[in-house]
Amino acid sequence: MNKRGQFSSRLGFILAAAGAAVGLGNIWGFPTQVASNGGGAFVLVYLVLTFALAYPILMVELTIGRFAQANMVGALQKISPTKWTRKLGTFTGLWGMLVVTLILSFYAIIAGWMIAYFLNTITQFSGLVEFSAWLVDFSLSRNIVFCVIFSCLNVAIVCKGVTEGIERWSSRLMPMLLILIVVLIIYVATLDGAAQGWRVYLVPDFSKILDPQLLVSAMGQAFFSLSLGVGAMLIYGSYVSKQENLPELGASVALIDSGIAILAGMLIIPAMYVAQHNGVTIFTETGDLIDGDRLIFKVIPQLFGSMGAIGNLIGAAFFLLMAIAALTSSISMLEVPVAYAVESRNITRHKAAWLVGAGIMVISLIIMFNFELLFSLVIKVTTEYSQPMIGFLLCVYAGWIWHRNELLTELSRGCTTMEASLFWKIWPYYVRIVCPVIILVMFYKSVIGR
Ligand code: PHE
Repeated sequence: MNKRGQFSSRLGFILAAAGAAVGLGNIWGFPTQVASNGGGAFVLVYLVLTFALAYPILMVELTIGRFAQANMVGALQKISPTKWTRKLGTFTGLWGMLVVTLILSFYAIIAGWMIAYFLNTITQFSGLVEFSAWLVDFSLSRNIVFCVIFSCLNVAIVCKGVTEGIERWSSRLMPMLLILIVVLIIYVATLDGAAQGWRVYLVPDFSKILDPQLLVSAMGQAFFSLSLGVGAMLIYGSYVSKQENLPELGASVALIDSGIAILAGMLIIPAMYVAQHNGVTIFTETGDLIDGDRLIFKVIPQLFGSMGAIGNLIGAAFFLLMAIAALTSSISMLEVPVAYAVESRNITRHKAAWLVGAGIMVISLIIMFNFELLFSLVIKVTTEYSQPMIGFLLCVYAGWIWHRNELLTELSRGCTTMEASLFWKIWPYYVRIVCPVIILVMFYKSVIGR
């Protein structure tokens, strides 16, 4: 029997879980969505959904994980009282694992680009023109090389286990990320044109708030950003000490996650308007703000390019920031199948990490070879459809299937006054009814009702 790892401290857990949550979804996805969904209106809806929908589901994952001390498949089986619910548990757990594997396989490709763009700031500086061009041009060879480099880094950290790998590296990388982002915000805010960006970002256009597309995108963003529905938070929850107050821990993670997303918006949206001021086109032919990869890999580098010598340094900091954020998230994704292999298949962690890592690299390769066909499709199927649906199933578990007493006992560890708390008065009903209904309605709107 392998001894289960545990985070060594409260802060260690918070940094690791915040590291899992804060990723490309915050620094790329969020500002991009803000750009394409009417600025401040999206920010507002996203914040409401993060605390009204995503936080309660985060609590479901953390609580089930800590109670069961197991990966998602094992945990859902453990809290299932009947044969059928056990089967549903196995299905949900395996589905989550499949989804996280697919998410990691596209995520590692994007993360590889971040490393390539980071290196480009150095090679450009050193006058290696051809090499620079290879780094920034979209090519199969470039994509493969950097995806493999990133994936190896990821595997190397996960090999080391919970405290030595995940916690240690998240605790080192997360503060670095915060410092980089704040420095960049301050710098960009001083540039001409930034003020207009701040206005677009902070003043919501209320007429857009109930736009169904905006609501669905904001829900997807909230789920993706808090890493829900794939068992990543569940497994991190299983490494939390029984002395900790879970609702407080969960709230810290949700606050840090949305805080960093908001900060990333303060960087990217003003940066776009600075770029416009410098002559870069930031609107598409249809009048919308440029978003997605064109925003991160065209507009932003053009901005750095227009800043002269300092632009190179700022560019390096920016892409380093992206790579770090991607790495701490990828660690948590890889941990999901690795923990399953270690716990359910009795393989050593080292072996499991390399085997699973290699399998995911193969999927990344398949995506890279069929990029046009698969890349957006995999993103859509995993993040837009699967994550909310698994979130729904997790609510069904916590609200309808798992015994309430066990739920209360688990939450009361680390918080003796739980039964009388406001959290316990609201959350169980909320997870039982409100969250599943919201998810279903949104789902209906996005898939069937368009
Ligand atoms: N939350 C991460 C991000 O915002 C992505 C992620 C999804 C991480 C699912 C783990 C599991 O980039």
